[in-house]
Amino acid sequence: MSDPLFVRIADLPAHAGETVTIRGWVTHVRSSGKVAFAVIRDGTGVCQTVFVKNQLPPDVWERFAALTTEASVSIVGAVRAEPRSPGGVELGVADLVIVGPSPADYPIQPKEHGIDFLLDNRHLWLRSPRQRAIAIIRNEIEQAIHDFFYERGFLRVDTPILTAAIGERSGLFATEYFDEGNAYLAQTGQLYGEAAAAAFGKIYTFGPTFRAEKSKTRRHLTEFWMIEPEVAWNDSEANMLLQEELVSYLVQRVLERRRAELSELERDVTKLESVKAPFDRLNYTDAIALVQARGSTTQWGEDLGAEDEALIVRDATRPVFVFNYPKTAKAFYMKENPDDPRTVLCDDLLAPEGFGEMIGGSQREDDYDKLVARIKEEGLPMDAYGWYLDLRRYGTFPHAGFGLGLERTVAWICGLQHIREVIAFPRMMNRLRP
Ligand code: 4AD
Ligand code: MG
Repeated sequence: MSDPLFVRIADLPAHAGETVTIRGWVTHVRSSGKVAFAVIRDGTGVCQTVFVKNQLPPDVWERFAALTTEASVSIVGAVRAEPRSPGGVELGVADLVIVGPSPADYPIQPKEHGIDFLLDNRHLWLRSPRQRAIAIIRNEIEQAIHDFFYERGFLRVDTPILTAAIGERSGLFATEYFDEGNAYLAQTGQLYGEAAAAAFGKIYTFGPTFRAEKSKTRRHLTEFWMIEPEVAWNDSEANMLLQEELVSYLVQRVLERRRAELSELERDVTKLESVKAPFDRLNYTDAIALVQARGSTTQWGEDLGAEDEALIVRDATRPVFVFNYPKTAKAFYMKENPDDPRTVLCDDLLAPEGFGEMIGGSQREDDYDKLVARIKEEGLPMDAYGWYLDLRRYGTFPHAGFGLGLERTVAWICGLQHIREVIAFPRMMNRLRP
């Protein structure tokens, strides 16, 4: 005899009154001797299943007694409305099959575990309700990013991960590439995005990026995902408008659709509700004055550190732009500010609540000679940038873009202090496994 209809737990309410099959993993069991309960999780939801001894064949009752946490099971039962249950239904069990037993040494127990232990067991830790909530919010944000750009006529362009050119200043991962010398894992898709913007107008990239930075902070991964729009004819002003529109869109989308997951994470949503464009804009020079007044020793000309960023957003309820940093603190490709050539037309968007830089963006240097001079000043290999300079030789154009760090954005929206939980399998200096 074949099993009754297989239904995912999230879809059970539509089957009230029917007998169905569910499949999943055991999260808890308890028994009073005559009546017993097993809570089942299948990724779409959780469902309480009810075993009544005198209504079941003895072998089914015995199998219940053998159930352990994280055993995988297939259960046949009647779907009943039960307002006190998480999904509004429960299952009155008729049959139980243990598909895969789970020995009693399951590493993750209902007690406090240290973060290193949890990360060593990341492949199992992912099964917890908290990790599920984070993964769902991340997915919502990824989908919202695609929707945002699609609705606005941007073309998604996938840029290479193996590259010969160099993008940002921080460390590179290298690997041998046949007879071509070293290939480097992309730190950014931007330079390719600029070529695509000249071809297609408005584009964005969405891909993994790599930084061999020796930073052990709560904001750094060696592999992270970045979203990089690049827009022909945008200047730095228009670039910031696009950034605040995107960030507001993402926050509102999560508030609209993912309240349950925010609540699982105990996120204070009142802090997110006020995140609407426009965001405050602070000139770099004013930002330096502000952080110095708040006790920082950072001097004009230096990049802002994490502590400075925290000082800037101390009283902010929305993200804050800091714009037009000194040339010395930023990448070679940023456009010189005509009103103050010591600075470039760029911005960092700082998340409130101390989460720090979420976006880095700029108008790009579109003057051939100035760009060549900057490449020389930085001691970068000119031949690697031949194709990039072509974009300034053949129909140069004002353009601007930015990079939104996905994990930092998700961490802020979820209210998580460390970004390592925001990606399924984080890569950090000391972590390559699992
Ligand atoms: O400021 P960054 O380095 O800018 C770029 O890569 C530009 N090419 C972007 C562009 O204009 N197209 O990085 C952009 C963002 C940061 O604001 C941060 O959110 C994130 O990427 N990021 C990291 N996230 C996690 N771990 C790291 N090691 C990160 N480095 C940067
Ligand atoms: Mg940056």
